[in-house]
Amino acid sequence: MAKDMLDFNVDAAEKNIDVSKKLKVGIIGTGWIAEAHIMQYLEMPDVEIVAGADLVEGKAEAFFKQFGVEGARCYPDHKSMLDNEELDAVSICTYNATHAECAIYALKKGVNVLLEKPMCVTLEEGIEIMKAEKESGKIISIGFQPRLDPNMVKLKQIVESGVLGDIYYIQTGGGRRRGIPTPFGTTFIQEDTGVIGAMGDIGCYSLDMVLNAIGYPKPLTVTGYTSNFFGKDPEYFKAEGKPAEYADIFGVEDFAAGFIRLEGGIILDFRIAWAMHLDTPGDTIIMGSKGSLRIPSTECWNGSIGGPMKVYSTVAGSMVETEFPMIEDKSKGNFYKKVRSFLDAVKEGGKAPVPTSQIIYNQAIIDGIVKSAKAGKELKIEIPEV
Ligand SMILES: NC(=O)c1ccc[n+]([C@@H]2O[C@H](COP(=O)([O-])OP(=O)(O)OC[C@H]3O[C@@H](n4cnc5c(N)ncnc54)[C@H](O)[C@@H]3O)[C@@H](O)[C@H]2O)c1
Repeated sequence: MAKDMLDFNVDAAEKNIDVSKKLKVGIIGTGWIAEAHIMQYLEMPDVEIVAGADLVEGKAEAFFKQFGVEGARCYPDHKSMLDNEELDAVSICTYNATHAECAIYALKKGVNVLLEKPMCVTLEEGIEIMKAEKESGKIISIGFQPRLDPNMVKLKQIVESGVLGDIYYIQTGGGRRRGIPTPFGTTFIQEDTGVIGAMGDIGCYSLDMVLNAIGYPKPLTVTGYTSNFFGKDPEYFKAEGKPAEYADIFGVEDFAAGFIRLEGGIILDFRIAWAMHLDTPGDTIIMGSKGSLRIPSTECWNGSIGGPMKVYSTVAGSMVETEFPMIEDKSKGNFYKKVRSFLDAVKEGGKAPVPTSQIIYNQAIIDGIVKSAKAGKELKIEIPEV
């Protein structure tokens, strides 16, 4: 049975793991986030990690050594790995620029894909991924683990309860005062590897938070803005203890804003910042005809809910507020659930836990902001049928 992300239960999933057949898994891109993937796979009794690939010579070998995985074969790129291995599934953990080519190649080889977020870097690439998915009949799930957090699940339940009535306006996004990510290099900030900056790193999460909660309505038009005042400033990097030259190679946006019309007459007002002269650009709010919801922002926007959510409504003529205490996640965490729900779907021939049919709208908004910012005007979002 396909697992719905809303009611994914770790304990039940763990009890039901069938170890009689091991899934052969490969990892494409053995950088930072691949560590989180391999740590989960190592917890799965029904997974055999058989191969890995990275463009950087020796990186995949060092990666498997670090995690004590013996016998995994290493390749210099995704193609050579997929050409030479019989795999059930791959994790694609490459930088944004190569998400699409790796995902399409894997699907064409008949391999199920767990693809890191953002789905890709343009709407056109997203459509090509969906075509390859359709032709292959395989599963591709996009790595949005924050939606598995119990507080995010609660958010969706609040919206689905109908307590907000007709939703007409959403403000979301977030930011960091200082948070341009250069943890182990510059792949997030270079145009040829990151392609999109703050939007691909953290903006896609805040879009997923609200769009998933309200059922992913189609985006219709977008007015977008992007800028890079912090990333292009050598003083920023010097103050952060990083090379000033990072400013020269900075080729993506560190701030983006968008005003998006969604199907159903809903306005989405979005902004995201890797850096800014401000503590927060505001909480997420969802305004409805019967009630409104406030989702407190986190100090350093990281895809989670910053504090108890509050519904504002009117009951028997009195204006009231209902606070939802934060729910502590006592299970193995969102990343475990992301990988486990993907593996279960692969084994059971179920649906992708985070499907491209939803995330293509997330990508279309990001793509629309980029294109509208360049055009300097509002644009229609046209999403071809696949
Ligand atoms: N879900 C999360 O919480 C989360 C957190 C961080 C990053 N990410 C996402 O993960 C992705 C990777 O981020 P990262 O920080 O690990 O980047 P990284 O630069 O540390 O690692 C990416 C690796 O992919 C390799 N690579 C690129 N193209 C390849 C190809 N065709 N074949 C084989 N290897 C290839 C690179 O050589 C590099 O080693 C990004 O898209 C990012 O948005 C997700």
